[in-house]
Amino acid sequence: MTHDRKFRLDRRELMTLLAAATGATTSGKAVAGGGATAAAVAAATGARKYKSMFPHDSLRDWMADLERRGLVMRQKRVDQDAYEMTAIAYRMMDCLGMYEAPAYLAEEVKIDGKWQKGPVIFNNMGPWDTEAIALGLEPIPNHGIETYRIAIQYMLDLLENNGGKLPQIPPVEVTREKAPVKEQVYTGDAIDITRFPFITSNPGDSGRYVNTGSVFTEDVELGKNFGTYRCEIKGPRKMGVNPEPGQGAWKMFMAKKERGEKEAVVSIVLGQDPIVWTISGSAIAKSGKEDEMALAGGLRGKPVEVVKSETNDMLVPANAEMVIEGIVPLDAPMEPEGPFGEMYGYLGLKKSENFFMNITAITCRKDPWILNQFTGVTRGFVTAPLEGASLARLRKLSPQIVAFHSPVEATGFGFLSIKKTKPGQALSIGKKIARIVPISKIVVVVDDDLDVYDRTQMMFAMGSRWQPFPATEIIESARGMPLDPSSPNRPMSSKIIIDATRQWPEEGGPEEYPALNRTLLEDLAPESFERVDAEWGDMLEDWLRLRRRRV
Ligand SMILES: Cc1cc2nc3c(=O)[nH]c(=O)nc-3n(C[C@H](O)[C@H](O)[C@H](O)COP(=O)(O)O)c2cc1C
Repeated sequence: MTHDRKFRLDRRELMTLLAAATGATTSGKAVAGGGATAAAVAAATGARKYKSMFPHDSLRDWMADLERRGLVMRQKRVDQDAYEMTAIAYRMMDCLGMYEAPAYLAEEVKIDGKWQKGPVIFNNMGPWDTEAIALGLEPIPNHGIETYRIAIQYMLDLLENNGGKLPQIPPVEVTREKAPVKEQVYTGDAIDITRFPFITSNPGDSGRYVNTGSVFTEDVELGKNFGTYRCEIKGPRKMGVNPEPGQGAWKMFMAKKERGEKEAVVSIVLGQDPIVWTISGSAIAKSGKEDEMALAGGLRGKPVEVVKSETNDMLVPANAEMVIEGIVPLDAPMEPEGPFGEMYGYLGLKKSENFFMNITAITCRKDPWILNQFTGVTRGFVTAPLEGASLARLRKLSPQIVAFHSPVEATGFGFLSIKKTKPGQALSIGKKIARIVPISKIVVVVDDDLDVYDRTQMMFAMGSRWQPFPATEIIESARGMPLDPSSPNRPMSSKIIIDATRQWPEEGGPEEYPALNRTLLEDLAPESFERVDAEWGDMLEDWLRLRRRRV
């Protein structure tokens, strides 16, 4: 069903179109003569082309680009003491879904009874379009899945043209005078993290969190690393630091402890450019082994400008909004932390012992922009860089693999399409994936005529091609996700592999598999879609006009 995908309009895209229709100025009969649906939709919604601001040097550049493209919802004031922003995040998901909801920016936020100047932002990388924009590509108007596909292909091409590796461009150091993040510097008693508009995201959370910080760490044995870990605000000069076991910073803290070191220095970077933000939150780089800042430069096609931290020697992005520097004591007792609303959409466990840091300096822009993440509600970062790089690796493992996708809205699924060449292959490849990819608890394997990015097609495959017996395998215990609330034995998890490829007779399938009705239409009436597409733009416009009058 991928053969005609450029003419398909999925339900979510249709919803966006309907939403746009009430205010859209249509551009006449622009799309006649066999135009694709994407183009028809673009014309019907009055979509215009903007000049990309790629590479985006800062969060501000990124938001400006999104705003020019109509991808930002703005509000003057929001009362977070009443959890209004949290409810807005859920409503956005209810109405538009994770992949269409725009970025959000509130100019002023009420926190602990005080109106604080923002802006506070969330969902900065929610919409499908951001997958292309972040990499310097143009989205296909109103066609999220196609936009994602070009972003994945871009990553595959990038790897292929660079000997299987992602390109690297090392960062360049700038002076503090040239670093916006040094506009304001607070040290000693002047430090007060509570005065910035960091919010409590959920009523179940233990408090206000800095939850979008890239925690920079270094270690004599393990090298350099940065990763996004939530940090609970514990006082004006004290924050929790929460790398889960096995994460880059966790390994460094533990290595230092083992060597008898008494502390670890950290610099936490906030309001990153979109590529640094994406690399920080996903395992694109091997922690400690690859220079993540150089990888960011490679994806941007331009070096990241860095500046020395105030109270340690670590180099951090100069165009960030804020850097919180501190010392994590390694010889003092750890402290309780959490709970916090986690990525599976459930309240996490309260930790009785976790790392914390004493803040030694805060440097920031004037009126820093604060990015919040409603974890488990909205998408956090663009996934094409990670999924593209993973797909290239998986294809080396098994050349039958065509595509692989982990839908963010249903953490736990892994959709895999293959070109099956022998019986039993789908289950055998699916098992490998389930063992290698911790987040893949339910691996669904389909034939390559289906589109792994289209959730409806995945359900279609399970409903019409899968026989639970014998086309299923269960793994009793494999590495899963430490945050999966269903696991009694985190991070271990049982797993299931669903072979939803057409079953061959040797696999226990029917002697003859019936043809798809749609394939028959395309084979037996090849001109049918061409004829309809010649008029489709006009039909859509007429219907939208009628609909607008009715609303
Ligand atoms: C908004 C956001 C918050 C995150 N919070 C945490 C966290 O609190 N602890 C954690 O271990 N990983 C967290 N992650 C996931 C890590 O950032 C991710 O696994 C990353 O690859 C870790 O980098 P590392 O391998 O260098 O440790 C978060 C990711 C995002 C996008």
